[in-house]
Amino acid sequence: MADRKRRVLVIHGPNLNMLGKREPEQYGRDTLADIDAAIKEAASGYGLDVECFQSNSESVLVDKIQSLVGSDVGGLIINPAAYTHTSVAIRDAVLLLDMPVVEVHLSNIYARESFRHKSMISGVATGQVAGFGKTGYLMALMALAERI
Ligand code: DQA
Repeated sequence: MADRKRRVLVIHGPNLNMLGKREPEQYGRDTLADIDAAIKEAASGYGLDVECFQSNSESVLVDKIQSLVGSDVGGLIINPAAYTHTSVAIRDAVLLLDMPVVEVHLSNIYARESFRHKSMISGVATGQVAGFGKTGYLMALMALAERI
């Protein structure tokens, strides 16, 4: 089994499977596969083993976060997408975790509609990166690599 501390899970929330086709002026032209490939390439440089996971379902996302309890994963990067702004259930699931958690948004949610300014997750995450597109995931990975 890989060293607990060297394993990272990346969770992408709803509609992020449509990246590339979805509002490219907001989210860029990279597909989710492109982003996951960039994360995995960067992770290997840090000696981190990364799993990337996407779901459009809030309950599936909660189940995936719960699966980290007692696992050998040492850190979580999560873009909860639209659930960022609504999901007490995802917030409560993150509270179960005893590991660094980085919240990532491709866009700068604070420069957009007011309903995106509130994150249910930021208060229970270790930190947040927003507004740097794909690079934000790589920044999150660097932050985790230093902590785990
Ligand atoms: C997002 C921002 C959210 O407000 C939006 O609902 C998303 C993507 C981002 O990565 O910028 O789906 O999380």
